[in-house]
Amino acid sequence: MEFDGWIEACSADDIALEDVIRFDYGNRSFAIYRTANNEYFATDGYCTHQKVHLEGGLVMGRLIECPKHNGRFDLSTGEAKRAPACTALRSYPVKVASGSVYLKLND
Ligand code: FES
Repeated sequence: MEFDGWIEACSADDIALEDVIRFDYGNRSFAIYRTANNEYFATDGYCTHQKVHLEGGLVMGRLIECPKHNGRFDLSTGEAKRAPACTALRSYPVKVASGSVYLKLND
């Protein structure tokens, strides 16, 4: 469901603490993260190093570690934090309301 540019992606409880899920919308794919501190973030789903989805990655604090070569990205900004990843992911505003997670796709 879409409202004022916000897309309802999933239930807040669909993502365990320190975990990540895949969310596909149209022809795009995203990764939505929940940290141990119960913060939610969203980025493009595919690693910028090679086309591997980050849904299989490891959430560590505010970092996601790619499952293929262990490159790391900042969840909140998408900034690449460890080689071989060197190009940032796009990140997206996220809000949680009435038990659902919403993404704003800032095209
Ligand atoms: S595919 Fe993600 S670091 Fe290489």
